[in-house]
Amino acid sequence: MSNPPVADWATDFDHTDEQWAADPFPIWDELRGTCPVAHTERYGGAWLPTRHEDVSAIANDTEHFTSRSIIVTPHRPPMELAPEGIAPPISSDPPFHAAARKMLLAVFSPQSIARLEASTRAYCQELVDLLAGRDVVDAATEYAQHIPVRVIADMLGLPESDGDRFRGFVHDVLEGVARPLEERVDILLALYEYLLPYVEERTANPTDDVISMLVGSDIDGEPLTPFHVIRTVGLLLIAGIDTTWSAIGSSIWHLAATPSDRQRLVAQPELLPTAIEEFLRAYAPVTMARLVKEDVEFQGCPMKAEEWVLLSFPAANRDPAMFERADEVIIDRQPNRHAAFGLGIHRCAGSHLARMEMRVALEVWLEAFPDFHLADPAAVSWSVGQVRGPRTLPVSVTRGA
Ligand code: HEM
Repeated sequence: MSNPPVADWATDFDHTDEQWAADPFPIWDELRGTCPVAHTERYGGAWLPTRHEDVSAIANDTEHFTSRSIIVTPHRPPMELAPEGIAPPISSDPPFHAAARKMLLAVFSPQSIARLEASTRAYCQELVDLLAGRDVVDAATEYAQHIPVRVIADMLGLPESDGDRFRGFVHDVLEGVARPLEERVDILLALYEYLLPYVEERTANPTDDVISMLVGSDIDGEPLTPFHVIRTVGLLLIAGIDTTWSAIGSSIWHLAATPSDRQRLVAQPELLPTAIEEFLRAYAPVTMARLVKEDVEFQGCPMKAEEWVLLSFPAANRDPAMFERADEVIIDRQPNRHAAFGLGIHRCAGSHLARMEMRVALEVWLEAFPDFHLADPAAVSWSVGQVRGPRTLPVSVTRGA
């Protein structure tokens, strides 16, 4: 089900529009110059800041803007879910947020993530081995999408064979935004029902996985409720999969479409860390939202309580006031203080994991396929909604083809 086409981006924007999905950059550039905080009546009212300083100001202002919901839909989640919200900590406001976030930091620390590198590399290698001998492969569906599913399933202690189910949940939650409220609720209930037996099992027999860690955690001496555990695990599944899959896919897409950068990276693999930061900046996959708490004026805009603010970290990353040659991809750009992982207290808790997965995925891919290009640029398709990345990406991997 898709919404009517956008008539005017300043007064009627829609981030699920086909034009936005295919190429949002000119839309943001135009708005930044003419109407830096755009509005739409869609979704019960929403605002769209496109300048870095405005995105940053709102992301850092938890007094006027709540994270009660971070996915724009025509509905508003019930207030009773506070303080945890629908997926703590991303849906929690201060002061509860700090405790809900803190318990995650150890499992996502650089040291914990370094321990996952060898198994991630072995898995990426298995995936490229399966593609051997082919001329054209789909780098999104046959490579990028599998990597985060395997890694997060391992961390959570869920069966990797349920990968299709996880991707189904992610798709329904992030892309099924136009569905009626009852269907949105059913989607979440299906996710909770799937996770509950695992939470019960780990409560009885803890292991060293993240579900067991959460079951054993407390806030101010009170153990987490099973409902809190389930909602955080649901968040990790959703936050960990589509985002990283999109980031790996966009990086491969850029290199397939830009032979000079691909050749430079193959010749100078030491550039990979700065190249990854630049891919994150230029193709930042994640846009999150806030709800306006009470009527407030922001940059002259009369924001009404319960209207959305779409926090486009990707648009902030293309702001020429923040980045020189903002629309160019410069793989040795330094410094690069991009906002791809967000700004403020909700900054991504999984950034070390995401960076490790991107680095390993690109190292293994470039070693297996030093010479690749888009097989059919018109066949590339992009996801619709708040997480953006290629969903079909046919590339020709034949040397010298
Ligand atoms: C390239 C991949 C990724 C990108 C671009 C990304 C981006 C983001 C962004 C922009 C936020 C801020 C949300 C907000 O302000 O409302 C966020 C939060 C979060 N991310 Fe990521 N993310 C990625 C991968 C991951 C992974 C792999 C995980 C873990 C499995 C993860 C877990 C989280 C969590 C738990 C939060 C909420 C933190 C909080 O509320 O304190 N992310 N991410």
